[in-house]
Amino acid sequence: MKNEAEKVFEALGDSGRLTVLTGAGISAESGISTFRDSGGLWDQYEIEDVATPEAYAANPSLVQDFYNMRRAHLGTVQPNAGHRALVRLEELLGDRFTLITQNVDDLHDRAGSRRLLHMHGELYKARCVDCGVAVEWRTDISLDDRCESCSGSMRPHIVWFGELPFYLEREIPEACASSAVFFSIGTSGMVYPANTLASQVKARGGFCVEINLEKTAGQGVFDLQIEGQAGETLPLLIAELEALL
Ligand code: OAD
Repeated sequence: MKNEAEKVFEALGDSGRLTVLTGAGISAESGISTFRDSGGLWDQYEIEDVATPEAYAANPSLVQDFYNMRRAHLGTVQPNAGHRALVRLEELLGDRFTLITQNVDDLHDRAGSRRLLHMHGELYKARCVDCGVAVEWRTDISLDDRCESCSGSMRPHIVWFGELPFYLEREIPEACASSAVFFSIGTSGMVYPANTLASQVKARGGFCVEINLEKTAGQGVFDLQIEGQAGETLPLLIAELEALL
């Protein structure tokens, strides 16, 4: 991994910023299902039934049950070495680091990542459908639960297909526009607009690295593709990088 770390270091320089995008693959070794791998969540459920505003309007109990099940499971799993390696990278880079995750689990948070943007929402939050206020929520959300501010009903604080991800107005574009290096970790790159972030960095001359079990198509943007389990490759890469920084 020394060669790979040297390439990243060369692109980063003394003052360059690094943005990381993670997907379900980084949490796979913790025991959370990915979406599109064989046996993944979208093999077991139809997106149209559980992950769209239309699904929630048609059958809110089914949608609540899907996220209640995932929220309950989250309490049984732990961050892995991949999450922890990203905490170390943040310690090394400080304000030069941003972590954007598509994951709605809290494993980055629990590992200790702080410069963290949950672009697709968070399982441990619920949001009022009327006033939009999001609050911490660790247990099941039921159709009887009401917003403390306005008595509206509560829904999972999750970005469904057809809804706009969070942090797109400022934080994510700013991080991508100012980054010399971009890591795409454990994501199939199938979901817009997360799958455009690497190309935004690339368009400004940035160096894009993919860390995945296997190479994705990646729209040809990746300068370096590291294959293997993120929980194994990331700690090695970041330890080598630490020796250079
Ligand atoms: P996917 O399930 O589409 O892709 C997971 C990726 O992780 C695949 O490319 C795998 O090869 C890779 N992978 C699996 N295990 C890995 C491991 N141990 N180490 C490294 N890579 C591994 O999941 P996402 O790309 O995250 O959105 O999916 C994006 C979005 O689609 C999700 O945020 C979710 C989903 O629908 C919403 O719910 C809005």
